[in-house]
Amino acid sequence: MEELIAKTAELISKSKHAVALTGAGMSTESGISDFRGPNGIWTKNPEAERQAYQSYYKFQQNPKQYWIERMTGTSWLGDLINALPNPGHFALAELEKMALLKSVITQNIDNLHQKAGSLRVLDYHGNVSLLRCFSCDARFDPAEFELARLLAEDRLPPLCRKCNGVLKSDIVHFNEAIPADVARESQAEVGKCDLMLICGTSAVVHPFALLPRMAKQYQSKKKTIIIEINAEPTPLTEEGISDYLIQGKTGMILPKIVEEVKKRTSKPISGCEISNCHCLLDEK
Ligand code: APR
Repeated sequence: MEELIAKTAELISKSKHAVALTGAGMSTESGISDFRGPNGIWTKNPEAERQAYQSYYKFQQNPKQYWIERMTGTSWLGDLINALPNPGHFALAELEKMALLKSVITQNIDNLHQKAGSLRVLDYHGNVSLLRCFSCDARFDPAEFELARLLAEDRLPPLCRKCNGVLKSDIVHFNEAIPADVARESQAEVGKCDLMLICGTSAVVHPFALLPRMAKQYQSKKKTIIIEINAEPTPLTEEGISDYLIQGKTGMILPKIVEEVKKRTSKPISGCEISNCHCLLDEK
């Protein structure tokens, strides 16, 4: 593993447009269950997955009832709002600060990449901390809508401030289209990337799972390297879409990669590169 970590660090430090694609495996070390791992939400409760497939249909049939159930019922989401980022999230944020990671395209709705300091995050499956207009895709902070009062006064669903359309959670439900802006920007990132880190995803849910395959297609033109960091092999591993898999925990592997990158990108202190510079080294 150490050799693959060193190799990945070398590739990152030389990349021109590295992109990270992430899934629920990034957040298990923050106490948020994944879906299809050994202790996954769907693994342990297939009924919850069947219910989740109904959410979008329920919203379309009766937005008011969708909102009442969302505000009064229990949800498989659990307490995402108070979850905290783990070293894997911070590692990706640090690579962005070093200008070595250009974007994160995440399937996770937990907002943990943003909480860790990542600025360029594309929430491919939406974000639990936002509402989105079903008509115009405008996004809002739920705090702007006094939702408890709307419930008490039987005035749900909340309406869009821009077009008066019906608002829903920004979470992209099964069978719901990926918001056009996110889909477009994600495809643009994949088209530009020369290095793709795929972290903590089983890579079975489409259309997200198509993004690595798109990158692979570009590989013939611009040698895009695709690296998986995951607890187990995935279809991307088995189909040879990824060039290699670093098998293990993202919260342990990603920080090690960042440490190796730092060794490769910090300026050597012996000898100063600026001609006739009177740096401290000369005075010794
Ligand atoms: N480090 C690395 N990999 C991990 C870790 C970890 N700490 N914990 C779990 N994993 C791996 C699991 O072994 C699994 O292969 O991460 C992967 C998570 O896969 P899923 O649970 O399927 O999650 P994800 O790929 O994000 O699911 C995609 O499915 O239900 C929908 O909308 C939901 O966005 C979700 C989508």
